Parts: sequence; structure tokens; C-alpha cells
Amino acid sequence: MNLGTTILKSRHSIRKYKPDPVTDLIIRDVLECGHLAPTAKNEQPWLFGVIKSAELRKKIADLTDKGKFIADAPLCIAVFGDKTAKYYLEDCCAATENLIIALQAYGIGSCWVTGEKKEYVEAVRTLLQVPDNYTLVSLIPAGYPADITLEPKKKLDDITFQDTYSEE
Ligand SMILES: Cc1cc2nc3c(=O)[nH]c(=O)nc-3n(C[C@H](O)[C@H](O)[C@H](O)COP(=O)(O)O)c2cc1C
Repeated sequence: MNLGTTILKSRHSIRKYKPDPVTDLIIRDVLECGHLAPTAKNEQPWLFGVIKSAELRKKIADLTDKGKFIADAPLCIAVFGDKTAKYYLEDCCAATENLIIALQAYGIGSCWVTGEKKEYVEAVRTLLQVPDNYTLVSLIPAGYPADITLEPKKKLDDITFQDTYSEE
């Protein structure tokens, strides 16, 4: 264990937040971490929207099926991918995880709310007036945690193999 792995292991999806705002300095640092994510051919086909407006967050929350708590988060980052880039989905997922872990490093909880295959992606894009070559890949509501729920995980030995796969 070291600081990096401790931060990674301490991350859990947070869906209840304290009202305390996230400072612009932190938001900037977090965005820089998203910006530095690995990206195929270094195309960086992403666009990060920072949504602080309570009115907009409520509208986004209402559009989602399983993201109603976005309305109560002090901040939501929306990750859009440029569909003309072949690997925009992989790239934007890498950026999303970087953003989430960077938030966690500041003790700020978040939750990955999809994104891409949902019916509401076009409505969110239109609401935020994002150009139509982009599509929504993820929404990241974030704030200081008011509640932490631990989700059960599969056993590590059941999801790993060494050299060649075997059923045993
Ligand atoms: C692609 C993706 C989409 C997700 N969409 C939602 C969502 O719409 N609403 C939600 O509450 N959580 C969503 N989650 C969070 C998962 O439910 C969560 O990561 C999972 O239950 C494991 O819990 P943990 O993040 O605390 O380890 C999503 C996660 C991923 C990776």
C-alpha cells in the first residue's frame, strides 16, 4: 500500500453529499487530472463541462433514470466525447476515472452516472448547448460525502488469472 493505492481503494460511489461547495482551485486540479488521461493516438477527444448551477443540475437529474441525486450534489462534471474519434468511448472512460480518483484524493465523493448508451444523452447535450459531434459519456456528481455505502465485490481470485486461464 502507498498513498496512490490507498486513495484508489478508498473510493466508493457516493450518492449523498454535504452542501459544502467544491472550490475552484480543486475543480481546476481535478480537471487537469482528467486532461492527462491516456488517449488513443493522443486525440484527446473530450470535453469536460463543470455544472455548478442548481437549476441545470436539477434539469439534468430529471432527465436521468438513475441519477436523481445529481440535483443535490454541489457539483457535476459532464464528460462528452467527440464521436468522430475512433476510441472516444475508451478515452472518455479513462478521463472519467481520472476525474473520479482526483476528486477522491481531495476527500470528495462522486458517482459515475452513465452516459453513452442511455436514452437521455441527447437531451443532456442539447440542454448544455454542446455541439452535436459530441455525445455524453458520463456524468460525475460530486461533493463531500454525507453517506458512504460499501458495495459487495467479487472475490479477487475469481476475476484474475495468471498466464493462462483455467476453471480451477
Ligand atoms: C458505466 C457506469 C455507469 C453507472 N451508472 C450509474 C447510475 O446511473 N446511477 C448510479 O447510482 N450509479 C451508477 N454507477 C455506479 C455503479 O453503480 C457503482 O460503481 C457500482 O455499484 C460499484 O460500487 P462502487 O463504485 O461503490 O465500487 C455507474 C458506474 C459505471 C462504471
